[in-house]
Amino acid sequence: MAGIDSAINIDDLKRLAKRRLPKIMFDFIEGGADDETGLRTNANAFRDLRLVPRYYVDTAKREQKATLFGRTYASPFGIAPTGMAGAFRRDAELYLAQTAADADVPYLMSGASNASMEQAAKLAGKNLWYQIYGSRDRTFQLDLVKRAIDLGLTTLAVTCDVPVASNRERNRRNGFVRPLRMTLPTILEAMLHPAWVVNYYRSGGLPMLGNWQPYAAKGATPDQVAGLFASQTPDPSQTWADLDAIRRAWPGKLLLKGVMHPEDARIAIGNGVDGLIVSNHGGRQLDTMPSPLDMLPMIRSAVGPDVPLLLDSGVRRGSDIVAALCMGADFVLTGRATLYGATAGGLAGVKKAVSILQREIDLVMGQVGAVNLAALGPHFLLDTVRAEEERRNTGAMTGRR
Ligand SMILES: Cc1cc2nc3c(=O)[nH]c(=O)nc-3n(C[C@H](O)[C@H](O)[C@H](O)COP(=O)(O)O)c2cc1C
Repeated sequence: MAGIDSAINIDDLKRLAKRRLPKIMFDFIEGGADDETGLRTNANAFRDLRLVPRYYVDTAKREQKATLFGRTYASPFGIAPTGMAGAFRRDAELYLAQTAADADVPYLMSGASNASMEQAAKLAGKNLWYQIYGSRDRTFQLDLVKRAIDLGLTTLAVTCDVPVASNRERNRRNGFVRPLRMTLPTILEAMLHPAWVVNYYRSGGLPMLGNWQPYAAKGATPDQVAGLFASQTPDPSQTWADLDAIRRAWPGKLLLKGVMHPEDARIAIGNGVDGLIVSNHGGRQLDTMPSPLDMLPMIRSAVGPDVPLLLDSGVRRGSDIVAALCMGADFVLTGRATLYGATAGGLAGVKKAVSILQREIDLVMGQVGAVNLAALGPHFLLDTVRAEEERRNTGAMTGRR
């Protein structure tokens, strides 16, 4: 495959990203926890879902605009937070931010990103959201909130699904630990990916965790800043009280990312959270979690029809996004899909990823007979259609008796 222009789907972008990256880097993106059951769970959930189309609906004019928190975006998906993206391609977060602005979709910047939120805000403006990890010393998390306020950001997401670090065996085997353990085999393998090597070392090697740099000593190296971050997060002592403190400090919209249990969903909304990101962290945390898609209907009934529900984990196709919306999500986030694009082709690569998904959403809407997102719903799901037909048949039989 030649380059970004030749990519026709997200899987093509993944292949390009894999070719460009040394194994140690690609495995960090791709890997899950333990036996990587979660990756398969996420993929299978979408694969096993069936949409039943309706025909003779005039879908000549279709539109996929989506409104969330009173703001209308061009599409019903945004970019999920992915830490250390600058290690895969320098300035990757800035390409994600720029694309978010150009395509008019939100970019939820990672709390472990290399570029800083101040840099990203210059490019993404109102399309920038920020993601926060609770820190052992609470002054860090509250200062990050303050910086987000100072920048005029509208939406903050707190990630709750990393109470402790997970067991990512690919990283342990490859030496993707801190400090990076570049063994001879790792270095030799990296030499097979010269474009990445040149980009990485010309830009100074390990990239800085931009949002954490201000908290480190003056002149601290990227590894020292990463050390500070690692000493602060994950913080297993975080509780609902810490989320409350963030809620009190943050006047904008607050999302809780990683909610999987309906009871947690109820508590979060009861505590003033504005919306939930139903997510299993892309299969990177607890390996035995169900897919967010499977939990979505329970979470929807737990919080009612009006609470915005976002979903991520396993989204690789426009049809996945449409399926999630039919299942009850209001919005979807893409982690690896857009990161493959950034890694494979920088700005052009992210734009390609977004346009692939937008095109696929549009075609699936045309296929099922939906002119806009309001027309989507559970009535397109095979399970609903089957249940409705069974109900009718039972009704008809009962009526005959
Ligand atoms: C390389 C990588 C880094 C990630 N870093 C973060 C992070 O810093 N904060 C966070 O809340 N989620 C992080 N995630 C999880 C994503 O936000 C998202 O939940 C997940 O990627 C969705 O699954 P998908 O990759 O299958 O789309 C990361 C995911 C990946 C692949």
